[in-house]
Amino acid sequence: MVTLLDDMLKQAKALTEDEPDVIANLANISALIYEQMPRLNWVGFYLTREPEMLVLGPFQGRVACVRIPFGQGVCGTAAATQKLQRVADVNQFAGHIACDSASNSEVVAPIVVNGKTVAVLDVDSPELDRFSEQDAQGLAAIAEYCQQLNWAGQGA
Ligand code: SME
Repeated sequence: MVTLLDDMLKQAKALTEDEPDVIANLANISALIYEQMPRLNWVGFYLTREPEMLVLGPFQGRVACVRIPFGQGVCGTAAATQKLQRVADVNQFAGHIACDSASNSEVVAPIVVNGKTVAVLDVDSPELDRFSEQDAQGLAAIAEYCQQLNWAGQGA
């Protein structure tokens, strides 16, 4: 069975494989996820800037926090540990950064190139426990594909 996430991964590849600009590609991937995955309120990327700071990148949704230090909140935890984060209730996550009080659950997938976290993909929902393990793995596969984008010039 072709799932929505498999299909989104194929579309992400098709949309980006001939375009070398990583920012343009991340912008379209955030729009693709936001459009196609139901019950979301924010999708976007935070990009690593020195030293160990996430800075807001291409996204869809309401205005958001601009800087998140590694280790803080769900995004900073994903960046620091390089591990996929699936949080059923963000209000129970120690140190969660509430950019938009409408967000109740989220998935954050790190994008790791040459051992370094170059960015994270953050997907938020107003619904508690919105994301199944399969959803999280599907979003992680999109983040893994993003490793192949052109990160030269982004500190990779
Ligand atoms: N919830 C995130 C902050 C980013 S925004 O929700 C867009 C976190 O705790 O890392």
